[in-house]
Amino acid sequence: MRVLGIETSCDETGVALFDSKRGLVADALYSQVAMHADYGGVVPELASRDHTRRLLPLIQQVLDEAGLTRTDLDAIAYTAGPGLVGALMVGASTAHGMARALGIPVLGVHHMEGHLLAPMIEDEPPAFPFVALLVSGGHTQLVDVQGIGRYRLLGESVDDAAGEAFDKAAKMLGLDYPGGPLIARLAEQGDPKRLRFPRPMTDRPGLDFSFSGLKTHTLTATRQLEAAGDLDEQARADIARAFEEAVVDTLVIKCRRALDQTGLKRLVVAGGVSANARLRERLARETDKRGARAYYPRGRFCTDNGAMIAYAGAQRLLAGEHDELGIMQAVPRWP
Ligand code: KG4
Ligand code: ZN
Repeated sequence: MRVLGIETSCDETGVALFDSKRGLVADALYSQVAMHADYGGVVPELASRDHTRRLLPLIQQVLDEAGLTRTDLDAIAYTAGPGLVGALMVGASTAHGMARALGIPVLGVHHMEGHLLAPMIEDEPPAFPFVALLVSGGHTQLVDVQGIGRYRLLGESVDDAAGEAFDKAAKMLGLDYPGGPLIARLAEQGDPKRLRFPRPMTDRPGLDFSFSGLKTHTLTATRQLEAAGDLDEQARADIARAFEEAVVDTLVIKCRRALDQTGLKRLVVAGGVSANARLRERLARETDKRGARAYYPRGRFCTDNGAMIAYAGAQRLLAGEHDELGIMQAVPRWP
């Protein structure tokens, strides 16, 4: 089955072609990051308009790369949510329009299921069951994954997502959006001993997270150093380091707990923050210690992309799922 995957939930237009026999055949991505950077965050209306401009050329590009035409497609999968409603509607209506014209099935996919299954596209995919840590700009979740569609939420953030916290802390330090990679770069120069931020919600049992308090710590540290006339480049790096250490340490502690609680030996880490090098280094040490293994998507599939949607959609389409004809799904809030 050849499945075209379409991702338009936020600020990346992603398109890919997944073949259930051959694997990933082609993928293309257009990132709107530069366009939103001037505003310090994603502007929903601009995002929708840009998806409208980019999507059809990207679909054509993927088909050309694969040496196929539209009529070679067997099905279409698109991100149905969660995300920005206008952005989602661009992907949903394009997918439904094409599917209708071609007379093929179409299916709306949950964005986080895409992230969760992204490591399955790689050469050595994890076997089920596994624990998944999903860390993106909108979500921080630990999930017990028994198979496709068999997910049990073990814990999640009660306030900000880890990526969101990175972005907000970056803003306080005068860095651009998205701030995650920029904080990580700045933190490399930071002194890990100068400041220490708390590890929220690790002093009690449970697998939930809370990252909004770390914003306050970042702001307080920034203001105090500024008032003392000490907010130089080194101080900003030290704050970035303290912030990153606190987030990473918290994520590692909760992953350790989730592995203990489930008795599982495989840990999948996906979503934008899974690109963080410090997190990977710490998790590698942790999994080595317990004879477990961590699995990641390749770099470009850590953040939003069409390949994960094509893959997740293909699994469900193969199981016979599809949208009703003409009923497109655009679900901004979807648990
Ligand atoms: O999964 P994603 O592309 O979009 C959502 O579905 O949210 O994740 C984007 C998030 C942003 O908050 C960004 O700052 C963060 O992932 N991010 C990182 C890194 N690369 C991206 N955070 C920390 N370290 C990184 N290297
Ligand atoms: Zn995402």
